[in-house]
Amino acid sequence: MTTSGRAEAGTSEKPTAPADLVREIYLAGPAAAAERPSTDLTALDAAARDVLAPNAYGYVAGNAGTGTTARANRAAFDRWSLLPRMLRGVTSRDLSVSLFGQRLAAPVLLAPVAAQTVMHPEGELAAVRGAARAEVSFVLSGFSCHSMEEVAGAAGPGPRWFQLYWPSDLELAESLVRRAEASGYSALVLTVDNPAFGYRPADLDHGYLPFVQGAGLANFTADPVFRAALPENSGPADVVRHWAAISANPGLTWDRLPWLRRLTRLPILVKGILHPDDARLALDRGADGIVVSNHGGRQLDGSVAALDALPAVRAAVGDRVPVLMDSGVRTGSDVVKALALGADAVLYGRPYQYGLALDGERGVHHVLRCLLAELDLALTLSGCGAVRDIAADLLTPAGRSLGPFPARTGGAPGASCGEPDAR
Ligand code: FNR
Ligand code: LAC
Repeated sequence: MTTSGRAEAGTSEKPTAPADLVREIYLAGPAAAAERPSTDLTALDAAARDVLAPNAYGYVAGNAGTGTTARANRAAFDRWSLLPRMLRGVTSRDLSVSLFGQRLAAPVLLAPVAAQTVMHPEGELAAVRGAARAEVSFVLSGFSCHSMEEVAGAAGPGPRWFQLYWPSDLELAESLVRRAEASGYSALVLTVDNPAFGYRPADLDHGYLPFVQGAGLANFTADPVFRAALPENSGPADVVRHWAAISANPGLTWDRLPWLRRLTRLPILVKGILHPDDARLALDRGADGIVVSNHGGRQLDGSVAALDALPAVRAAVGDRVPVLMDSGVRTGSDVVKALALGADAVLYGRPYQYGLALDGERGVHHVLRCLLAELDLALTLSGCGAVRDIAADLLTPAGRSLGPFPARTGGAPGASCGEPDAR
């Protein structure tokens, strides 16, 4: 996505350049602004809370335990400041990145989020359409409410990836991978930080988990291997029971990864890595990329912020593989910070779910346009013409002076503040 020109159409509608959004909004005026969800990407949570049932809001917004990790994710971004450069003549910005030979219009993909009909009746179909309109790639959760084939049918032409929770039934794992290949997903994201659901007080207090209500199981109910394992004349309760029996796989170890590696030629990213040694293990066993993530603080409360874990993972794997990160990314400046600390791209999670809740496909499109507009502006205002040029020298620790306190020279001994220099 080069913002001086028009990007190629993802759908029949021409996506507009990120930089156009701000002008478009001002020209449309106050009445149009009142019709849209906020452009403040940190304000969408509260707006979505107003329109969602408490259990639905609790599922998407809820965290593990006390929420320490979710707060740490945000605090980690706040501990870095951008140190912009001026007069660099940035007249156009190139937001595009290339991962596994696939060109992404921006260094942002939609994070895999389960059971999206909880947010909106059209669920993943609305989300993938909104993503396509913004030219943002979509990572489909293995626990989706529409099957991967249905979502592929609604998706735009850009790359889309499939997230796999490795089931304990190997034949089913193979079937899911084959279906993902056949329906045009161009990478697998193997999520490894969920051997069990985290301790989530919001869901526990509501007695609510979407999957138990039958939401998020479409890839299973559409699967011949899964269906063949159901008892004859099975009903919804049998589906949930069998899904619960095979979907969590706490016995999984690194030694199994080569099996998946041999099964498919798709690039495999391992998502949910925080320790650099796990990143090394993943690569040694055949992974092609890493997603540094703590699942948005939904799994292990008290675990390290994803952004804080990122530099060590990047250092451990060097430049040889793509490293993505998620957990706490909210704004364009956050994307810049993540890239400066070693990520090639980020996954964007809850904010697009709030957009989905507020206005379906349009809401997702709106959220992504805002994010990309802010990213584009962050580059302009930093003096950086392309995301690939973002480097660590764009950052400085927040709240710290950039140098020693300057000793003033040239004043008369004992001169106090406010004395004008006699120059
Ligand atoms: C998730 N996440 C997730 N991850 C995954 O690999 N498979 C999944 O099915 C889900 N499901 C899911 C549901 C909901 C409601 C949320 C909020 C998150 C985690 C997701 O991919 C990502 O890691 C987090 O959303 C990042 O945190 P933030 O930035 O959204 O707070
Ligand atoms: C979640 C799972 C499905 O976070 O990843 O709810």
